Amino acid sequence: MNMIEGHMTFEPSADIPVWDVDPYAEDVLIDPAPYYAELRARGPLVYIPKWSVLASGRYEETRDIFSDHSRFVSSRGVGLNDFKYGEPWRPPSIILEVDPPDHTKTRKVMARALSPKAIAGLKEEFRRTAEMIIEQLIERESFEAIADLAEAFPVAVFPKAVGMVDSDRRRLVDYGAMVFNALGPDNKFRRDAMAMAPDIVPWITGACTRDRLTKGGLGALIYAAADDGEVTEAEAAMLVRSFLSAGVDTTVTGIGSALWCLASNPGEYEKLKADASLARPCFEEVLRFTSPVHTFARTANQDTEVAGLRVAEGTKILCALASANLDPQKWGDPEIFRVDRKPVGHMAFGAGIHGCVGQNLARLELEAVLTVLAETVERVEFAGEAVWRPNNAIHALDRMPLRFIAR
Ligand code: HEM
Repeated sequence: MNMIEGHMTFEPSADIPVWDVDPYAEDVLIDPAPYYAELRARGPLVYIPKWSVLASGRYEETRDIFSDHSRFVSSRGVGLNDFKYGEPWRPPSIILEVDPPDHTKTRKVMARALSPKAIAGLKEEFRRTAEMIIEQLIERESFEAIADLAEAFPVAVFPKAVGMVDSDRRRLVDYGAMVFNALGPDNKFRRDAMAMAPDIVPWITGACTRDRLTKGGLGALIYAAADDGEVTEAEAAMLVRSFLSAGVDTTVTGIGSALWCLASNPGEYEKLKADASLARPCFEEVLRFTSPVHTFARTANQDTEVAGLRVAEGTKILCALASANLDPQKWGDPEIFRVDRKPVGHMAFGAGIHGCVGQNLARLELEAVLTVLAETVERVEFAGEAVWRPNNAIHALDRMPLRFIAR
C-alpha cells in the first residue's frame, strides 16, 4: 500500500480526467476563481495526481457527496490525512470528525446550545458592540479593517457568549487558522501553522475546562449536558473546544469578506443602506460569493460511484464548496454579487448532517455588523490594497485598509 499525505494512493478509472494542478499552491489559494472554473469545466470529478485525490467542483455532485454521510465519511478526517491509517495531529473533533451514531449524540448537545432560542439573548449585546466599534472607526481617516473590525468584533462578543474567563485575541484567531491549515498537505502553510501549536493548544485546552467558564454562557450549556449524563466531562471540554476551532476564524473571515464585497460593489451597498433588513440576505450572498471555508474533504468508505464514475474505497475527495457556490449550472450570473439574491441552498455552511451547527450564531453576528453599518455609514471605501491570506481550507483577507464616511 502506497501512502501520500496520510492517505492511500490510487489509480483513477480511465474515464476520470487527470489534471496536473496543485489546489494548495499559493497562487491558487490567493486567487482561486480560475482553478474553480477549470475544475468545473473538466468534469464532475477530476483526478489530481500531485496529492492522489479526486476533486469535485460542480454544485450538484459536491452537494450529493456532502449529503451522503454513509458513503462519504467524516470520521476518516475532513482534510488530506486518512485517520484510518494514522494518528491526527490533535485528538479528532467529536462532532466534525465522527459519523453517526457518535455524531448524533454530540450534535444534539451542540445544536441545543446554539439553537435560536439559546442565542436570542445575545442580540442586544452584539448590536451594542457593533455600534461601539463602528462609531470609533468612522472617526478615523482610515483603518485596518481585518484587525480593527473583522477580528475585533467576534473577539469582543464570542468568548463572552461562550462564557470564557480567559480571552486572548491572537491565540483565538490563530487557533482557527491553524486548525484549517492542518487540513491541507504538508506545505508551508501547514508547517507554519503547526509551529504555533505548542503555544496555542495548551492555552485552548486550559480555557475550555468547566472552571474557566462562567455560569450563564454557551459553554455552561455544554457542561449541563455532562451533568445530565448525555456526554462525559472530557467530551464536554472537547465540544467547547469545537466552539473555538470553528467559531472565531470563520466569522472573522465572514466579516472581512462582507466588507470587501460592499467596498467593491458600491451600488449594492446603496441597496443595503436603503433597506437595512437586507442585512441577512446580504450575508448569505457574501457567503455564496466568497465561501470562507473553500474546501473540505470526505473519504469514500466503500467502492461506489459519483455521476457514474467509479470511486474506490479509501479515496479522498476534495469538495470545493467555493466552486459549487460559483457554478453557473446552479446560479445565474454567479460572478455578480447581489445583496438581494437570497441564494438558498449555498454550500458555505456545508450540507447534510454536518452542516454548520453555529450558523445561527454566525448570522446573528453578521446581522449586527451589517445593520449598524447600513444605518451609520454613508460609504465604505478602500483606502489601500486588499490582500488575501493563503490558507489550506479558508479563503480570507489578511489586510484591507478601509475608510467609513459617516451618514
Ligand atoms: C461565517 C461563519 C461560518 C462558516 C462559513 C462555517 C462553515 C462551516 C462548514 C462549511 C461546516 C461543515 C463542515 C463539514 O461538513 O465537514 C461547518 C461545521 C461546523 N461549524 Fe461552522 N461555520 C461558521 C461559523 C461557525 C460558528 C460561529 C460556530 C460555533 C459557534 C461553528 C461551529 C461549527 C461546528 C461545531 C461544525 C461541525 C458540525 C458537525 O460536524 O455536525 N461554525 N461550519
